[in-house]
Amino acid sequence: MKILTISDVQAIINILGLESFLWRLVTALETDFRRWPEFQKSVRQATHYAHGVIELMPCSDQEFYTFKYVNGHPGNTGHGKLNVVAIGQLSSVATGYPLMISEMTVLTALRTAATGGVAAKYLARDDSQSLAIIGNGVQSEFQTIVLAQLFPVREVRYYDTDDKAMTKFATNLSGYPFALKPCRNIAEAIQGAAMIVTATAAKKKQCLFTFDQVAPGTYIQGIGGDCPGKTELSRELMQNAKVVVEHTPQSLVEGDIQQCSAADIYAELWQLVCQIKTGRENDTEITVFDSVGFALEDFSILKMMYDLAHEYQLGTDFELLPELDDPKNLYGLLQL
Ligand SMILES: NC(=O)c1ccc[n+]([C@@H]2O[C@H](COP(=O)([O-])OP(=O)(O)OC[C@H]3O[C@@H](n4cnc5c(N)ncnc54)[C@H](O)[C@@H]3O)[C@@H](O)[C@H]2O)c1
Repeated sequence: MKILTISDVQAIINILGLESFLWRLVTALETDFRRWPEFQKSVRQATHYAHGVIELMPCSDQEFYTFKYVNGHPGNTGHGKLNVVAIGQLSSVATGYPLMISEMTVLTALRTAATGGVAAKYLARDDSQSLAIIGNGVQSEFQTIVLAQLFPVREVRYYDTDDKAMTKFATNLSGYPFALKPCRNIAEAIQGAAMIVTATAAKKKQCLFTFDQVAPGTYIQGIGGDCPGKTELSRELMQNAKVVVEHTPQSLVEGDIQQCSAADIYAELWQLVCQIKTGRENDTEITVFDSVGFALEDFSILKMMYDLAHEYQLGTDFELLPELDDPKNLYGLLQL
């Protein structure tokens, strides 16, 4: 069985280059969303605490089964720890044997951004030149880079309640070919933005901006409203925009759409990818991808990393499982 550590993930991304890694990932996600009916899907199993959540996220096709262990602890960053950490496993459906265990903290940020990219392809205006990023923590650079890769972004307007996060964001993205505009508040950041990403972390119902603050034609990618009682976008906005979710049963509990009902959901993302439903239909409608993170996205990136690890001979093969001459004699292993 293979173990992929953070060093292996870094090595794979360095070999391919972040840009082509992300192209490959957007394509892999779109391919898997296109075969949505082939997957066994379920809502994630979430264990809630007053200060955060720990979740297990399974998904399977006929060949591979994956699951991710992931948390969300908004208070962690105040104590020098990440808000979100994750580990994933990919197994063979034929035998049930685990094939790979992988670090998934970086992979979660990458797959969340790339999934947003897939949604934006269908929901944002092709000529989107200005992007606003509200919340400049861990996810923010990944979100920016994917959208700037897919759209002709010339200006990125950004705001965080934490000045240090804003400085870090600007430093990390200083080499990219778009102008960085720090803003003093959310209203300033979203002014004139064709695309808005909300990536804040607070375990409460927030309203980052109101419906009447959003210009016609805007695309909103909401990733921080992803738990019961944890929202970023107002009910009025969700009821008046064209809202797309990943998996309705999970999103109705966890997404910003938890404030509304199933009738307020326009489509699931796979329906746009399969062209069962039309994405953006004109330059004036306001569209929302209410992302909570679905297990299929983890499946896609785990499978892609498994293939890449073999292609580049990376990762470490570990004997974590017993190898037996007689598969009925497990006890024999203990006879030293
Ligand atoms: N949808 C998904 O698939 C998915 C995946 C990963 C993370 N997330 C969610 O995305 C959010 C961001 O995650 P992260 O890892 O970047 O967290 P993080 O803690 O690293 O960053 C969050 C940032 O938001 C800022 N913030 C909080 N309230 C704010 C406000 N009102 N206005 C402006 N800034 C504010 C904080 O200061 C912080 O810098 C979290 O809520 C997380 O749960 C969603």
